[in-house]
Amino acid sequence: MLEKRLLACFSLSRRFLVKYQRRKFSVAINEKETIDVCGKKYQRDEWTNVTPKILSHVGRNLHLQEKHPLGLLKNRIVNHFYSQYIGRTGNPIFSVFDRLSPVVTVEQNFDSLLIPKNHISRLKSDCYYIDSGHLLRAHTTAHQVELIKSGIDSYLTVGDVYRRDEIDSSHYPVFHQLDAARLYSKHEIYKQEDISGINLFENGDETAEKQEVHTLDTALFLQAELKACLEKLARNLFGEDAEIRWVESVFPFTHPSFELEVLYNGNWLELLGCGVMKQEILANCGITDKVGWAFGIGLERLAMRLYQIPDIRLFWSQDTGFLNQFRKATPTSPVTYKTISVFPQCTNDMSFWLPESTAFSPNDFYDLVRQVGGDVIEQVTLIDEFNHPKTKLTSHCYRIVYRHMQKTLTKTEVNRVHEDIGSEATRLLGVKLRVV
Ligand code: DAH
Repeated sequence: MLEKRLLACFSLSRRFLVKYQRRKFSVAINEKETIDVCGKKYQRDEWTNVTPKILSHVGRNLHLQEKHPLGLLKNRIVNHFYSQYIGRTGNPIFSVFDRLSPVVTVEQNFDSLLIPKNHISRLKSDCYYIDSGHLLRAHTTAHQVELIKSGIDSYLTVGDVYRRDEIDSSHYPVFHQLDAARLYSKHEIYKQEDISGINLFENGDETAEKQEVHTLDTALFLQAELKACLEKLARNLFGEDAEIRWVESVFPFTHPSFELEVLYNGNWLELLGCGVMKQEILANCGITDKVGWAFGIGLERLAMRLYQIPDIRLFWSQDTGFLNQFRKATPTSPVTYKTISVFPQCTNDMSFWLPESTAFSPNDFYDLVRQVGGDVIEQVTLIDEFNHPKTKLTSHCYRIVYRHMQKTLTKTEVNRVHEDIGSEATRLLGVKLRVV
């Protein structure tokens, strides 16, 4: 089964690479070339860097599978919010949006969240762009403004997010996030009868604790509500006596901002990012009488800890040895994943001179390795960098760790993939292989 998938992946990558080759390295603009995502056609342009391998993850919707660890964890968090936050009518306060398209505009992913034009998170080397105006969302926060504009005061949104990143057992270019926001009117904050003399806003200064337009009381109220809500969630997930700590942080869309960390098996695990929503964002949504908080939580890392899943690639496995272990689980039942067997790793290094004339980012190489090698790639690490004093050329050496999840790879199989990676890197990225 997996063999077939691997082969399919290979032939797909071959076709893709041949196309690429024709256009010579860096995705030249070709008016006729379009790209299909979620049933819509997009014209390729100089921003297009999404690969068929990455696009093959769109629509898998692991978070919607009830018996998948990500579906279980999502439902656990959703159920927690449903039961803890009930409105006056007896209905849950938070609405859930888990089917929003992962294709978003640059405006949604960045501009609407006040992410500066020159912010590094926008770089082509960090995101999967479909064209200059669209990308596969890099975070579920991308939906904040559209949801709030549509009149929703409290929501949870869950979905797949895409980021170009390093390759190891806890990083995969596709993962899942749950984002939430909650807005409050003056009435909801001050429960007493007469609130006419109370102001949510002032024309003040920004301090570490508050935004310039918030009164200190407003800011401290929101911070306390946010922290209480998330501490409750952390205790639900990790147990009543979980050791947790707050760390100050910075996000362009919140102030003040925090991260919540949980002590787990002796290590502080970063659980989520959060903060008081920037009032400017709410104003841009047409909201002038409410304030709010928001948070975003990554599901894979959390699920890896809760279910003892050792490798992030396993979430994508269709192997029954993996999936059956969660078949009978409920969102609250404690499941401990048992590794069926671990097949040996195979390590191969690759050194090359970087191209002189074109820009090169290690993420270009990581994507190419994934495109050619598929999921037998366990880890890629830049282990050595060297600048030649005379030629001024730079050399990179990468260590590639191969491991199949269901069988032992032979040296011949690994060498074949390794050689393919070398020749494709030469052709597509313009590197020059070095014999070590
Ligand atoms: N979007 C952030 C990330 O991906 C996480 C985050 C931080 C989400 C603060 C939020 C927030 O909604 O308020 O790292």
